[in-house]
Amino acid sequence: MGLLAELTHRCPLRCPYCSNPLDLVRRGAELPTATWRRAFAEARTLGVLQVHLSGGEPTARPDLVELVAHCADIGLYNNLITAGVLLDERRLDALLEAGLDHVQLSLQDAGPSSADTIAGFSGGHEKKLELGRQAVARGLPLTINYVVHRHNIAALDEMIELAAAMGARRIEIAHAQYHGWALRNRERLMPTLTMVEQARAVVEAARARHQGRLVIDSVEPDYYAKWPKPCCGGWGARIICIDPSGRVLPCHAADTIPGLEVWSLRHHCLADIWADSPAFNAFRGSDWMEAPCTGCERAPTCKGGCRCQALAIVGRAEAADPACQLSPHHAAFRALAVQAAGAPSEPRFRYRQFAGRARREKG
Ligand code: FES
Repeated sequence: MGLLAELTHRCPLRCPYCSNPLDLVRRGAELPTATWRRAFAEARTLGVLQVHLSGGEPTARPDLVELVAHCADIGLYNNLITAGVLLDERRLDALLEAGLDHVQLSLQDAGPSSADTIAGFSGGHEKKLELGRQAVARGLPLTINYVVHRHNIAALDEMIELAAAMGARRIEIAHAQYHGWALRNRERLMPTLTMVEQARAVVEAARARHQGRLVIDSVEPDYYAKWPKPCCGGWGARIICIDPSGRVLPCHAADTIPGLEVWSLRHHCLADIWADSPAFNAFRGSDWMEAPCTGCERAPTCKGGCRCQALAIVGRAEAADPACQLSPHHAAFRALAVQAAGAPSEPRFRYRQFAGRARREKG
């Protein structure tokens, strides 16, 4: 169904919950334009309908307009997922001319001070609002992405109203997912259960208020759930993720799983990777499941939940997702959330950064 193309890991923002891996791909190791074009054409032949041009910050790639034009030419619905701070009007017009279908813009909070603190980027919030205005003025469908956590969850109502006032047609609210960078910041980001319940009520009221005008998708944190979600729609079932170096993954965080044999676009075509690569077949279907998932009547629905979460919490990617109340690790999982949410709340984030920069800063 969908291809997530992480064109680059370069990004001016430093969000402490970034979904990119800890070991970021350097500019010199990024795929060249021709290989991305080939990947999109192969995806189209495979039946992929939508490509999400993401990162890092995809507008950092100088060939973005060419890639969008290529997607449009071959009939791939293309969605630009952007932080919005590097795009000016001229480039937005060029993207539109090339056939850009949709813009998904991330905001960090309702107000500039908190938003810029969370993003670790001064002046970013105003630039994002301006890009949103320009996109809507040009008739581009706009989705606003909010990653929600302890430091912005109380402002969720204002955040929704801000997106509505900007003319967004859809809002995607997702709680921080605790892999990689966010796992390093779990004590700083985790909301309490009460905060999550209040946020749920805010979303329900906003849905009623904006019915017919604004779609609000909301994903709550697994830590307070009883049942796991079918992560990525099931492993190797609906989604292909390509990292900036050309490694093709069944989910954006799959690289955290040790020993997973990941194939690259540099050596294989996409169809072969989808059908035969060990990474895609590792957790496809249900043969890999173990108790309590084997024979569970919910397994066809939850598809085993999230493998990366099982690894992060239980230490084994084959284990039941600890978000499931039937998992022997569920109580400990919930206790981690309660403990993290009780930690002091000042936003001293451990920001995302390239390892090289971290080494220089230390030295
Ligand atoms: Fe990798 Fe859920 S994030 S399977």
